[in-house]
Amino acid sequence: MADLIRELDELEAGAEAEIEAAATPAELESVRIRLLGRKDGRITAILRRLGELAPEDRPAVGARANEVKKAVQDRLEARSEVLAGRSEVEREVDLTLPARPAWSGGRHPVSLVVDEICEIFARYGFTRVRGPEAETDWYNFVALNTPLDHPAADMADTFYLDDGVLLRSHTSPVQIRTMQAYDPPVRVVVPGLVFRRDTWDASHAPAFEQIEGLAVDEGITFVDLKATLSEFARQFFGPSTRARFRPSFFPFTEPSAEVDVSCTICGGSGCSACKGTGWIEIMGAGMVDPNVFESVGYDPERYTGWAFGMGPGRIAMLRYGIPDIRLLYDSDMRFLEQF
Ligand code: PHE
Repeated sequence: MADLIRELDELEAGAEAEIEAAATPAELESVRIRLLGRKDGRITAILRRLGELAPEDRPAVGARANEVKKAVQDRLEARSEVLAGRSEVEREVDLTLPARPAWSGGRHPVSLVVDEICEIFARYGFTRVRGPEAETDWYNFVALNTPLDHPAADMADTFYLDDGVLLRSHTSPVQIRTMQAYDPPVRVVVPGLVFRRDTWDASHAPAFEQIEGLAVDEGITFVDLKATLSEFARQFFGPSTRARFRPSFFPFTEPSAEVDVSCTICGGSGCSACKGTGWIEIMGAGMVDPNVFESVGYDPERYTGWAFGMGPGRIAMLRYGIPDIRLLYDSDMRFLEQF
């Protein structure tokens, strides 16, 4: 009995080398016959000699012989797959199955709008810049012709940190930073988050995206403002879009305007999106106040300029029919996957 077990052990060990050495399917077939062949295969021969054993020894040797037979068969099978040119992965996985579609992420609707606005202004020569979200009250208010005791500073009440530092209530302080860093001509667009003490409801969020624009040079007039913003409205909302400029007030622009575009839903005849007016307000704008130039050391006798500020979040809501501003911040995949 011990002899047969040893033979089986040797056979198993030797079979591995023989099988791996087979270089073609034909060679492998002859190895198979040598090991498992029904007439003279070595395992068959061993099984045949079971009869010589004492009956009580037969089950143990028989079991070991079947084990070796199975191991040899598996090895032959694996080698045959390799010789047929199929890798281990291909044997385990059906590579012809169609892949499961996986969502690889997307851009947020507000980012889509910001990028599109920046691309349009890039064609007019505007560079995209950024500024800090934590600002001093000088940059956020004073340099923008808004004394701290001015009601306009109250209107934009924001979150205060220590020692005159606050979370900016608009992107306009980046006008100041840009003009301090560069001499005219200046043309920049400034996307970024801003903060206000607004209650969180369907149309207000305490942190939201703005995009600022600023152009300064010699000889710039209100005509440049109107022409550029009207052309922007056509490029962004469609060629038949009209823009209208209503007088308004901002401390840092004079004169100032609210800019409306003809309703993108009804085209101007009046619908629920424009509350029946035919117009939708998209931004504030105006000619840079000379006092703002004074605070950055630009000569107000020599230079003029215009600026605008708009809310890409509101524009995204308009464009994609988003009914509640909070959807923009919830990170709900069912919402985000649509973009
Ligand atoms: N900063 C203004 C606001 O937040 C928008 C604005 C920017 C208006 C530039 C005029 C010029 O409401």
